[in-house]
Amino acid sequence: MPSERRLCKKLSSTLTNPAPLGASEKGQLGVYIHWPFCLSKCPYCDFNSHVREGIDEAAWRAAYVRSVEHYAQRLPGRQVRSIFFGGGTPSLMSPETAEAIISEIQKNWQVSNDVEITLEANPTSVEIEKFRAFQMAGVNRVSIGVQALNDTDLKFLGREHSAKEAIQAIETARKVFDRYSFDLIYARPEQSLSAWEDELARAQDLADSHLSLYQLTIERNTPFYMSHEQGLFSIPEEGLAADFYTLTQEVMEGYGLPAYEVSNHARAGEESRHNMIYWTYGDYVGIGPGAHGRITIDGRKYPTREHQAPDIWLDRAGKDGTAAKAEASLSHYDRFMEALMMGLRLRAGVRWEDLDRAAGHGESAQVFLDHAKLQTVQDQGWALCDDDGIALTQEGRLRLNALLPYILKEA
Ligand SMILES: C[S@@+](CC[C@H](N)C(=O)[O-])C[C@H]1O[C@@H](n2cnc3c(N)ncnc32)[C@H](O)[C@@H]1O
Ligand code: SF4
Repeated sequence: MPSERRLCKKLSSTLTNPAPLGASEKGQLGVYIHWPFCLSKCPYCDFNSHVREGIDEAAWRAAYVRSVEHYAQRLPGRQVRSIFFGGGTPSLMSPETAEAIISEIQKNWQVSNDVEITLEANPTSVEIEKFRAFQMAGVNRVSIGVQALNDTDLKFLGREHSAKEAIQAIETARKVFDRYSFDLIYARPEQSLSAWEDELARAQDLADSHLSLYQLTIERNTPFYMSHEQGLFSIPEEGLAADFYTLTQEVMEGYGLPAYEVSNHARAGEESRHNMIYWTYGDYVGIGPGAHGRITIDGRKYPTREHQAPDIWLDRAGKDGTAAKAEASLSHYDRFMEALMMGLRLRAGVRWEDLDRAAGHGESAQVFLDHAKLQTVQDQGWALCDDDGIALTQEGRLRLNALLPYILKEA
């Protein structure tokens, strides 16, 4: 579609190295394992996580192992590049369970020498004590849910840990693991820009080479949603929220930890390899309640989504290796839309040739774009395009959710 491409301005100086699309059919694979339990439910969180007494961990371990075997039979000959234990709170599982899952993955697939094996961990003392055992089990990276560096805000966020424990967890992680990252939530009620700037300074002192910084979102079906609706607290309005985002970008850039994705910051080469598989539309398997995956078989890309309910998943996956309904393969349009949605999260953007390959119909995938609207978005300073690819500007990434449906033609 050369005439449509000409609508894209030549701005290659700003569009630096669009990320090549990730793993695919022939190539590498990510494996996501969802542990759906937590010590308590944080009032802002809408992840598939549950508080349970008396978890039959042997049964869970057997179901995960059975599920790895199931997906390996569907996807033979792949190389696993990353494994991610997410949740819920996977640091509550026993290190033996993590070890059993990792060794089943090694038994069924080739695993790359530099495989990244990440565990999400909450910084309570019980979990910190298990870090060494997780490392022995094969975990080489932790992502710690710190959320705030002061006790007042931790209490407001309903966290089970203190700021002191969070710092201890980071210090232990530094000694035990090859790499670590931690999460903070900002734009909290009453938080000022200068208080956040100070907190970022403390965070960068504690950081290794990766940080995830999320703006507080009020999700439906959470206790925070109710309290917020009732006016019990307020969060920064749109303009101030945008100032928080801009400040975060500028300060972290200054610390040498620029955003490589909307909420993720890293030194060059230290990006989360697992998340890069999602954002470059690579193949990944999702195991555990509610986990989803994208897998390519015979040139078709299939979505997978495991049953949400822990008991149903345990029962079905324990027997059959999966509790997912069979899904039709994705259309070319859906593949393009998903690859674009993921690629635009990245500061580096996405290449046209990779979007063409992701769509998989052998023609220019730009037919799915409304080029007049794309031009408008460029004129506003929200997107940059050139002959190589497309990226959003910092301002554009703030508006990602609104921009994407706007620039896509209707299916
Ligand atoms: C699956 S969750 C957490 C994993 C782990 N259980 C924990 O709490 O640390 C991943 C991250 O998403 C972020 N998060 C979850 N809900 C959020 C919300 N409503 N607003 C902003 N960030 C949120 C938190 O920073 C959290 O660490
Ligand atoms: S934020 Fe983490 S610990 Fe809190 S409920 Fe969600 S998954 Fe569980």
